[in-house]
Amino acid sequence: MTDFAATKAMFNLPQGVVYLDGNSLGPLPRAARDRVSDMMVQEWGQMLITGWNKAGWMAMPTGLGDRIGRLIGAEPGSIVTGDTLSIKVYQAVASALELCPDRKVVLSDSGNFPSDLYMVDGLLRSLGPEYELRVVAPEDVADNVTEDVAVLMLTEVDYRSGRIHDMKALTELAHAHGTVTVWDLAHSAGAIPVDLATCNADFAVGCTYKYLNGGPGAPAFIYVAPRLTEQVRPALSGWLGHESPFAFDLDYRAGNGIERMRVGTPPILQMVALSAAMDIWDMADMQDVRTKSIELTELFIKRVEAACPDLQLASPRNPAQRGSQVSFRFADGYAAMQALIAHGVIGDFRAPDIMRFGFTPLYIDEQDVENAVGILADIMQNRLWDAPEFKVRQSVT
Ligand SMILES: Cc1ncc(COP(=O)(O)O)c(C=O)c1O
Repeated sequence: MTDFAATKAMFNLPQGVVYLDGNSLGPLPRAARDRVSDMMVQEWGQMLITGWNKAGWMAMPTGLGDRIGRLIGAEPGSIVTGDTLSIKVYQAVASALELCPDRKVVLSDSGNFPSDLYMVDGLLRSLGPEYELRVVAPEDVADNVTEDVAVLMLTEVDYRSGRIHDMKALTELAHAHGTVTVWDLAHSAGAIPVDLATCNADFAVGCTYKYLNGGPGAPAFIYVAPRLTEQVRPALSGWLGHESPFAFDLDYRAGNGIERMRVGTPPILQMVALSAAMDIWDMADMQDVRTKSIELTELFIKRVEAACPDLQLASPRNPAQRGSQVSFRFADGYAAMQALIAHGVIGDFRAPDIMRFGFTPLYIDEQDVENAVGILADIMQNRLWDAPEFKVRQSVT
């Protein structure tokens, strides 16, 4: 059994704050500060450039990939970290398209994170006018997997509502139609159990600054099924994805296995912080995390619905269809969230009217949920949100 009191003690959580936004940016693992500082002083400071070899910096992207892989059911050697998630989406879809050269359609849904759609739109524009990004409602995806679809690109857990797509069923359906799948796991990795190998997924991508707690700007990751890696041509053919980067050949040759999905110099400071976060994840079992997460979200929904009738549940009521976040609709949701934050409960807001709360058992417990709902109820019942200072929009919501 995962000891959640022990994992909670390993995070730096500010006094008087209930942090329900780990689905957007995880909190600071206590060990990260010393780890990054040691790396700066002893490795960067003393080893200088020799740190790439002596301190193993160059191997960090795949080492971290394997540690993340344990949480999402990936085969060893099938994940590499680096870049940002938007870049990894581009990379995955570009490679996936090349596996289906006779088809020109990428299918996605309107619940997808806009950056995924923007990246694919940009990619398809550079490939030519015959390519099409087809966006349908999330509930219509299965009916639209047709013989002309090259790539099915979906975010497994909807960033706004938390609704889960059935990865196994949709991947099976896609394969039956000769379609390659790209799964965005931004709101899945560390949130719900994922089993990429069993689902027979082709490509998957995700970020490490949300549930994995790698810090702002932490690197993304990309998974390529081992059965495909050697066929995959990297569209972003940077030197560190080359078979022999330090040969400095003028011609590109894709590197071995997942190494080919590397692009350029990895962000080592950020990777060191992520490795401190992964030490905490090594203490956790994803099934325990899921069980606890469901208990927390069920408790939150029950208490909010009892105390705040103005808030409408925007997440699936069935916990099996919901990720590790809960969203409520409220017309003045922005102001209500600002008021909540001012009272020490941090969640976030997604336009036009979604108040979003993330539940992260590594450091959130029942008492936190009770405290958060007590404050939310006070804000809603006494209209504390209805003040000018809570209505001024900031750039990050
Ligand atoms: C589902 C999803 N995809 C893509 C992104 C974009 O990630 P990045 O800013 O790391 O490129 C996000 C960011 O929150 C996301 O939630």
